Amino acid sequence: MQESLARNGAARVGFAKGWYLVSWSTDLEPGGVKPLRYFGKDYVLFRGEDGTPTLLDAHCPHLGAHLGYGGRVEGNDIICPFHAWRFGSSGRCTEVPYASRIPPRAAVNAYRVQEHSGMIVAYFGPAGSEPEYEVPAIEEMDDPAWTPLQQAHIEIATHPREVIENIADLAHFMPVHNTLIDDFKVIIDGPRATQRSLGRGHNLKGEPIPVVSVATYHGPAIQFTRLEWAYDMVLINAHTPIEDNKLLLRFGVILKAGEGVTLPPAVLEAHVAAARNGYFEDVAIWENKRWRDHPIFADGDGPIGEVRKWYTSFYPDAAAP
Ligand code: FES
Ligand SMILES: [Fe+2]
Repeated sequence: MQESLARNGAARVGFAKGWYLVSWSTDLEPGGVKPLRYFGKDYVLFRGEDGTPTLLDAHCPHLGAHLGYGGRVEGNDIICPFHAWRFGSSGRCTEVPYASRIPPRAAVNAYRVQEHSGMIVAYFGPAGSEPEYEVPAIEEMDDPAWTPLQQAHIEIATHPREVIENIADLAHFMPVHNTLIDDFKVIIDGPRATQRSLGRGHNLKGEPIPVVSVATYHGPAIQFTRLEWAYDMVLINAHTPIEDNKLLLRFGVILKAGEGVTLPPAVLEAHVAAARNGYFEDVAIWENKRWRDHPIFADGDGPIGEVRKWYTSFYPDAAAP
């Protein structure tokens, strides 16, 4: 992990250790190869012929070709496009086609990867560190009463800590999201932080309806929200840093139409768009704001300091949460 200097010149901050969403499952076919760039580094993600995803550092230890540009999958291995060295999912070189022996140190770094709930997630942390929690599966995805996962993403010029802070920021709901909050609580439980809120919003006809939301971050970057609004919904909100001050925010949603019910596409799309736009309403603020290490707080602000402390616990040099 590397240190970074935020654009606004605030204190040096690093990237939090934990599980991050690196690809939607549907974006990677068996045999598919994708170059990725996260945390200011290059990676290659590929799917073996048996369906297993593998994430490796991108550059071949031989002469440095990027495995994600022209690399091809054979079995569950990837073949470098330059001189055809072969690497398995552990990152070890398993074949040099023209040589009598494999150089013992020929390997690239491999990352721990899991796939469920339509997501491929990978663990990033200091070398040798182990995940201290798991990202649970979204059980509703296996229930025929729920629609298939709809996905969106947006690149944002900001640092992840700004995104995280949203869960505690009670006072922004009305100005940014036009939602009146009647009851609001943030519960920190080890690697999880949950925001529970009961508010008053509007359905798509503009009629006032209650909005009940339980939004849990499983670690520093992947949040699932159970939302009772016009429909019951499960939302995925996951951010992955690309570089200093640049991240990819992914949004996914399923909604409960009822078993055997097919929603008219326009109705589905309108509700998906409304949920998605709710997440993206913060973007203009994030991209132009300045991080304050020592904000001036007023009562009614929400437990921002507590959430900052929780997030800091994921920095690699911090004690485990
Ligand atoms: S650079 Fe990869 S095999 Fe030569
Ligand atoms: Fe927000």
